[in-house]
Amino acid sequence: MIPNVDLSMEFCGIQFKNPFLLSSSPVSNSAEMVAKAFEAGWSGVVFKTLNSDRLPIIHPSPRMHCVHFGGKREMAVQNVEMISDRPLKDNLTEFLFLKKNYPEHPIIASIMGFFEDEWVYLAQAAEDNGADMLELNFSCPHMCIEGAGHKVGQAFRLLEGFTEAVKKNVAIPVMAKMTPNITDMTEAAMYAKNGGADAISAINTVRGISQVGLDDWVPKPNVFGKGAISGTSGPAVKPIGLNFIASLAQCKALGLPLSGIGGIETWIDVLEYMLLGASTIQVTTGIMHYGYRIVEDMIEGLSDYMAARGVRQVSELVGKALPHLHETEAFDLKRQGIAQYDLDQCIGCGQCYIVCRDAAGQALEWDGEHRRPKLIEDKCLSCMLCKFVCPVPRLVSFKEMPQGWRRRKTAVMDRNLEKDVKLEPFTKEGPNECVI
Ligand SMILES: Cc1cc2nc3c(=O)[nH]c(=O)nc-3n(C[C@H](O)[C@H](O)[C@H](O)COP(=O)(O)O)c2cc1C
Repeated sequence: MIPNVDLSMEFCGIQFKNPFLLSSSPVSNSAEMVAKAFEAGWSGVVFKTLNSDRLPIIHPSPRMHCVHFGGKREMAVQNVEMISDRPLKDNLTEFLFLKKNYPEHPIIASIMGFFEDEWVYLAQAAEDNGADMLELNFSCPHMCIEGAGHKVGQAFRLLEGFTEAVKKNVAIPVMAKMTPNITDMTEAAMYAKNGGADAISAINTVRGISQVGLDDWVPKPNVFGKGAISGTSGPAVKPIGLNFIASLAQCKALGLPLSGIGGIETWIDVLEYMLLGASTIQVTTGIMHYGYRIVEDMIEGLSDYMAARGVRQVSELVGKALPHLHETEAFDLKRQGIAQYDLDQCIGCGQCYIVCRDAAGQALEWDGEHRRPKLIEDKCLSCMLCKFVCPVPRLVSFKEMPQGWRRRKTAVMDRNLEKDVKLEPFTKEGPNECVI
């Protein structure tokens, strides 16, 4: 039974029955699909980016490639899909259908123009046909037509100008969807804000190449012998999405509501985005893998979590991790710790010993007879690699050492290399001793 907590979320003055939205992509391509998603539990949709019919949109074929990683399928999706290839009239008619039949599910129209009048035309057309809000697509990284998508998202004045033009001509709220293919998103977002944006969504796909054909040497997807740098999505990009959402949320001068996107599949992903500042979240790849039903897990998981933590209203979670997010200079380096082992649980696989030997501090000795590791505490780097490779979940844990405890310097020193090599003292301005 789902506990009685309140998942409803107000976003830019619009009421959503939960924070879970379809992001603009194949999962939000038609009213028929969106209706199914609403019935599954999604509260709103960012419809597949509209185009104005001025230019014919032809999708490359094939348009996607998926990278599996270990047991995890669709760890990354590589796509070269364009914005909607459907006639504008069809898309708008479907907005009206959705508005009539699902009036409590807000429709966000994603639009992309190539020049100012086109942005305004699309924005007004969407508003006139029932869109509750707009998302300006400044972020598709692989448009086959020059002068659109993330190229605009990287040209901040252009982004500001298009936002301003749209804002002047519609009454509904406007959200700018940002490209992750820049270093500092806060700067770009400030330009969107100056143009009048009411909210920011991030991220669109990350420019990438996820696989190259080993037989034909063509990056994938292989479009009849040609590859391209294109958009990566899915769990592989979640750390990038979280980074940008957290940076935007930390930017006090920005102060706009955020919609988090990138690699969200479960209620835990949702929660992490919200704790770092997102008020709503959007999903594509998770649905391209498991279908619309993943929203059931999101509703149930988040509700259970809230009930267990005594959180009544979901908005109370937004930004809760931010006070704990610092620059690394803030770390207290006087506090140090090591790995500790509950060897009663050990199955003797030796993975910890191998990684400690080849990638860490050589702090483990191996008792071959009993097949058990033995820790030399003052050599442990507390990298915790042993914990991450250990197949037994709680066998290895982190233990803080008393103040003043010292870690031995790296193991190569033990071999007394100075006996074999003569160190040349550094000359001029360099330090004159070799510090390892
Ligand atoms: C096949 C495909 C098509 C997409 N088309 C659009 C689009 O038309 N407009 C847009 O703003 N984003 C588009 N996106 C980006 C997604 O909306 C989303 O920002 C991105 O995939 C990251 O989220 P995810 O990891 O949940 O997929 C597309 C993504 C994919 C995979």
